[in-house]
Parts: sequence; structure tokens; C-alpha cells
Amino acid sequence: MLQDIYQPNPEFAKTATIKSMDEYYALTKKATDDYEGFWGDYAKEKIDWFKPFDTVLDESNAPFVAWFKGGKLNVSHQCIDRHLDTRKNKAAIIFEGDRGDVQTITYLDLYKNVNKFANLLKEDFGVKKGDRVVIYMPMIPEAAYAMLACARIGAIHSIVFGGFSSEALKDRIEDAEAKVVITADGAFRKTKPYMLKPVVDAAITEGSPVEKVLVVERNNEEVTWLAGRDYSYNELIKNKSTHCEAEVMDSEDPLFLLYTSGSTGKPKGVQHNSAGYILWAQMTMEWVFDVKENDTYWCTADVGWITGHTYIVYGPLAMGATTMMFEGVITYPDAGRPWAMVENHRINQFYTAPTAIRVLHKMGEDEPAKYDLSSLKVLGTVGEPIDPTAWKWYYEEVGNSKCAIVDTYWQTETGGHIVSPLPGATPIKAGCATLPLPGIIAEVLDPATGEIAEVGETGYMCITRPWPSQIRAVWGDEDRYIKSYFADVKKDGKAVYFTGDGAKYDEDGYITITGRTDDVINVSGHRMGTAEVEAAIKKHSNVAAVAVVGKPHELKGEGIFAYIVLKSVPMEHKDDIADELETMKEINKIIKIEIGNIALCDDMVFVPDLPKTRSGKIMRRILRAIAKGEKITQDTSTLEDPSIVGIIEDLCKAK
Ligand code: PRX
Repeated sequence: MLQDIYQPNPEFAKTATIKSMDEYYALTKKATDDYEGFWGDYAKEKIDWFKPFDTVLDESNAPFVAWFKGGKLNVSHQCIDRHLDTRKNKAAIIFEGDRGDVQTITYLDLYKNVNKFANLLKEDFGVKKGDRVVIYMPMIPEAAYAMLACARIGAIHSIVFGGFSSEALKDRIEDAEAKVVITADGAFRKTKPYMLKPVVDAAITEGSPVEKVLVVERNNEEVTWLAGRDYSYNELIKNKSTHCEAEVMDSEDPLFLLYTSGSTGKPKGVQHNSAGYILWAQMTMEWVFDVKENDTYWCTADVGWITGHTYIVYGPLAMGATTMMFEGVITYPDAGRPWAMVENHRINQFYTAPTAIRVLHKMGEDEPAKYDLSSLKVLGTVGEPIDPTAWKWYYEEVGNSKCAIVDTYWQTETGGHIVSPLPGATPIKAGCATLPLPGIIAEVLDPATGEIAEVGETGYMCITRPWPSQIRAVWGDEDRYIKSYFADVKKDGKAVYFTGDGAKYDEDGYITITGRTDDVINVSGHRMGTAEVEAAIKKHSNVAAVAVVGKPHELKGEGIFAYIVLKSVPMEHKDDIADELETMKEINKIIKIEIGNIALCDDMVFVPDLPKTRSGKIMRRILRAIAKGEKITQDTSTLEDPSIVGIIEDLCKAK
């Protein structure tokens, strides 16, 4: 079926950075004809180098690659110092607190705050280049200062999303061997204080690598202080100097780690390095969001996810933009909150997740019309496929049918956007990420042949040449880097980067992402490994076996569906509903402790067994189909016990 196509707004296109498809094709041609020339020129133009680089791309140790070798820079200098001559009084960050409190931080303020923070880490905690610092923070400006302070002194930050539990935080601290944790007492949500510091306390147990904990006092609630370990940021920062020399970093010195879920085992520490990452963060801000000097840009993500790293902090600041930071909940006090903020702050670009759009639509269909949203120029989505209903409402009611929607496809490992419309150039279609950005050789390949997939055929979303903001390593695990990303697809005999996503081309060559091909699920745009949730559920003493799959969910995109085999409840006696509910409660309690609320199960079914092949492999495809209520069309004859499929189907129907 041919889809509606929406042309870019011609008025907008006149001043856009990339104004037409002709310009787009000229750029992609330049990149294919002279890949290194393309990237080398942009790197020279965009980055304020302390020392120029010698080579653009070194692939001699592929898939371990190096960009801009020999170059020296500092990412905090790129994001702050270089703007001081021209933008010192411009707002760098506009913060709106949960309770409506607003704070404007100019580039000069940011410079001072980051330098003081960097001096604190160096002088009081002895943090040096290469040390790992875990940041477990709410959405307050100090989270951005902390990131940039680490970058300034060459420490590697690893942010853990504030919704993760103490166990999840502990695992990440230990894997990164972090010697410092930066946190807050807590913050505010729906005007009420909530706490983070107790989670940190529980995560630091005997043998922990953590030596010092820095606590930003945000909500001033009572917390416990461990003498010699815990320090108040508000106290220590008072007499720090506002100047801290930026550490001279190599292009390939690590900038940060960010743990993300894979299909197997524990979360992996995705490592991004300095020059390539910041270059692409900055360029995509300019191309995809088309942010102009006087614009105010708002990305609603949390700094705990890659979107917050690249598109709240590093990208906007690297280009000298004004970035909004919001502590609160977008549906509080009502679903008009974001639109009130757009009106109040005259937001020009608004970037959010499909889950948020669906919730805002459902809870406040008519809210956008109550506000003046005329400042909006570009709307963005990220994190999961967006359904046509949500897309249309976003386009028509929020964007007044005049703003481009940039459906940006990317992932933690890509550092920045990979496939996305350009708002002044690309004709768009609902739910379609459209075309690879210039310089990104993203292709949908047939995994069996490595050939480009036919129109309409689902293939594997791959990137066939290294790109500057590419993941450089899985922290401490070279093998896992290769196995996770370079083991599934070969093109012309050479291993290429596989994203883990399925995708297909349409008749215009546009790419639509069809979702993960592995055991990763996407709950409200949060990436979750089914293996992690299964590991948590298995900690319940009465669980014998479990298989977790994703199930389409009206608001969350995907919900978590668990098939659980209990040890001591024979199925024929399983009519005691109260018992069953109690066990479910206990299981969700364990998930909350092990991972956090974001991984709670939407559905649990107790089953007598799981569908397994004779070699013991769980047939997840069947379980996915049952969860969706689909008819089983797969061949079940290879199962150890084919009758189990019907039994599970009946149990699910009875629920
Ligand atoms: O499955 C894809 C989905 O989100 C995954 C990446 O998750 P994460 O690393 O947490 O980063 C999220 C923010 C970039 C991808 O592998 N995804 C991301 N963007 C889109 C998407 N799926 C469809 N359309 C998108 N625009």
C-alpha cells in the first residue's frame, strides 16, 4: 500500500542547513566518493583541535577502528570554552524543575560551574585521567556539570539511569571499577521528594571499588552520611576555583561508558571515545534538528540514556545551542505540561519518544490546541517504532501540519542518529525513519547472502563502513564486542556492523525499522534484555524455569510477558488464585530489587513447561506468537513435547 507522503515546509527549507534532496544526494555522493575526505573536512571544520589529527580513519585493526589519530582535543572545551568569545551570555541550559522553578545557565555560568566541579573531583577526590566515575543523578543541571567535569579532567563517566535499583547500580559500578559515585539526596517528582542516596548506599557493599561519594543536596531530605566516604557537593564546591585547565586528550581517549542491554548475559559497557563521538553529536544537531543560533531546543529524555547524553548535553552544547533540561513528569500536573513549556520557553525543536507521544495523546488529545505552539519548527521521535495514529496526532495537533517529524533511528552503540529525515529536505512518511544520513553507510542486508535486501523484504539493519561515533569497545570484553556486533552479517566476505534490528526498504528506497531481531525488548523506549529479566525472576525460590518475551502494548510499545514454570505447584492443583497472585507479587518485588520498576512484568502466566526443542532450546518465537494472541503457524514437530503449545495457549486464553 502506498503511504501518504508529506513534503518539507518550503518556508522552513529556505533557511535549513540542508535545503533539498539535491543537497542531500550531493552530500551522500561526496561521502561515497571520498569517505575519508568527507569526514576529515568536517572534523577540521567543526572541532576546535589543540593539535590537528594525522590520519582520518585507521581500519588496520578492524573491527577495532580509530578516527582522527594524532589529534588532541578536550570535549568540555569543545562544548564550553570555545563559545565564550561569542556566546558567554547566551543560555546554555534552561532548567525547569518539577515544581516549575526555572534556572537559566549561561555559557559563562556553565564554564564556571564545570571548572569548579572538575577542581573538586581532582583536588578532593584525587580523580585522574582514565578513572571511572559513576553518575547516578536526577535531571538537574549538576548532572550535566558532572559529565562535563569528568570530560574536562579526562575521567570516564558512566551514568546509571536513576530508575535502576541498587543491585543494577552495584553491577555497573563493579564492572566499571568506579572509584567515585556522584549522586543527589534525591529530587522532586509530582512535587513530592523522592530519594536516590539510599540506593547508592545499598549498592556499595564490602569490597566495592568506590572510595568516595559526592552528594548534591537537591531536595534537602534526611540522608545518612558515612564519614570519610560521603561528601556534600554544596559544601565542597563553595571555595573551588573557577578555572581548571582542560586535560589534553587524544582523539581516541574514552569519553564515557554507558551500560546497555544485549540479548545475553549482563549489560555491556558501551564505550564511546572523544573526537568521533563529539563530531557526530554536533553535526546531527545541526543537520537533523536544524538548530539555529537563537533557538531553544528541548529533548525530554533522561541523561541516564544515550539520548540524554548526545541530545541534551553533548550535541547541543558542542554546537553552542540552548538546551532545555526538565526534572519533572511530562503528564504532571496534566498532559498539557509539555505544551505549556513549549509556549513559555518558545521551544523551537521538541524531541521525545513514541511512548510519551502515545501517553500525551491518550491523556490529553485536546491539550495542544490550548497553547501557543507556533514557535515549533521541528518535532523528533526516538527509541522505538512510532505507530501511524500517534504520528498523525503529533504531526497535526502538535506540529500544526507545518513541522517536519524527524523519526531518528539510532542506538546507544551508534552514538548519534544513523537513519533520519532531514527536516528541510526529506519528504516524510508516518513511522518511517527514511534515509541514512550523509556519511553513514547504513544498508538493509539479507543476512544469508550479504546482498542488499529486496524492496519489501525484511533484512538486517547494518552499517557497512565504520563511522566516527561508532562504539569503540565493550568495556573490558574484546570478544563480546566482536560477537555482539560483527558476527552475524558479512558483506563481500567482510564482517559488518549489525544493529540487532530488522528493517525493510520501500519502493522509494526508504528504510522502515521493524524492530529487534534478538532477545532485546523495548519497553517505553527503554531497552531491556529478556535474559536480565529472566535472571531476576529465577531468583525466586519457587521458580524452576522462565522465558520472557515482548508483547505489543498500547502505550509502552512493548510490555514484558513472562512464562514461568514453578517448582512446587503441580498444574492440576493450580486453582488457588490467591496463591498465584501472591507469587506474582513476590516475583515483581524481586524484579524491582534486581533491576528496577522499569522491568516489572505486565503479564505472567504459570505454565507446566516451556516449548523446547529436543536439544533443550526454548522456542521463543512460539512464545512471542502466543503472547500476541497469534495463531501458531510454525512447525512444532521438532519440539520435545508438541502438546505443550496447546496447553500454554489455553492457559493464556483463560487469563
Ligand atoms: O530497536 C531500535 C530502537 O531502539 C534500539 C536502541 O535502543 P537504545 O540503545 O536504548 O537507544 C535508544 C535511543 C537511541 C534500537 O536498536 N529504536 C531506536 N530508534 C528507533 C528505534 N526503533 C524504531 N524507530 C526508531 N526511530
